[in-house]
Amino acid sequence: MNSQPRRVENIQTDRGSVPVYTTAVIEQPWEDYSDIDHDVWRQLYARQRKVLPGRACDAFLRAQDTMRMTPDRIPKFSELNKILGDTTGWQIIGVEGLLPELDFFTHLANRRFPVTWWIRRPDQIDYIAEPDLFHDLFGHVPPLMDKDFADYLVAYGQGGVKAHGLGQDALMQLARLYWYTVEFGLMREHGQMRIYGAGIASSAGESVYSVESASPNRIAFDLERIMRTRYRIDSYQKTYFVIDSYEQLIEATRPDFTPIYRQVAQQPLLAAGSVLDSDTVYQRGTGEGWPDDGDV
Ligand code: PHE
Ligand code: CO
Repeated sequence: MNSQPRRVENIQTDRGSVPVYTTAVIEQPWEDYSDIDHDVWRQLYARQRKVLPGRACDAFLRAQDTMRMTPDRIPKFSELNKILGDTTGWQIIGVEGLLPELDFFTHLANRRFPVTWWIRRPDQIDYIAEPDLFHDLFGHVPPLMDKDFADYLVAYGQGGVKAHGLGQDALMQLARLYWYTVEFGLMREHGQMRIYGAGIASSAGESVYSVESASPNRIAFDLERIMRTRYRIDSYQKTYFVIDSYEQLIEATRPDFTPIYRQVAQQPLLAAGSVLDSDTVYQRGTGEGWPDDGDV
């Protein structure tokens, strides 16, 4: 990653204009996708579109339809970008894979969502550790069509640039917030638990597990609580945090985090499966099937 060309640009933060470097953006090599690549997309898309109605929040599936993600071939970023740009001003940019933190935050702050250009192999249909095009595009991009979520992610990027200057504690607390909202968030809708997190929405198994299984905890969103909570990267989550609306997310994350980071850093971390007396618990998980350790 470090050997890639980098460019400098100025971004706006609440400390004024700050110059940062970003990793080069790759043009989606759409003509180079093989029939197998398109077929992997087709299979994954069909399966998720079957699993998600009644499980994903309404806005998610509606947005995906409005964007016209193509069911039988990998969508072209350039086509999605027209409607995405017109709707919330966001753009998809192609990247090779995970970016250095500051690059990632900078893209978000400028309404650019990095999407991995390559798609998993057929033998990785059910599980892949790394984010690929299917996870990034299918899971992360539809929420960007929602004005409130779109604004939340910009604020997150700006907050990330700031946290980067504050140090490792702040960065880790912010990473936990991303994990439990953008990646694995649930929302109460129609009196039910619905998915909005991309890590869930792009996984057939976790789409069902997250909203239907008795084993995980489902706990009301609480910013500082989330910032202290470790998480799983190699199994389904032990705990999901539940919002009532994207507006709630925006309001709860509007305050300056600088004093909050400091205060949270004084408190002990919490295991991924822990439940506190102070939690608003929608469901206390049975813990069935949980691995013993390995929280990040
Ligand atoms: N308000 C946060 C800060 O001051 C920024 C932020 C917004 C972080 C939204 C995450 C999500 O750092
Ligand atoms: Co992701």
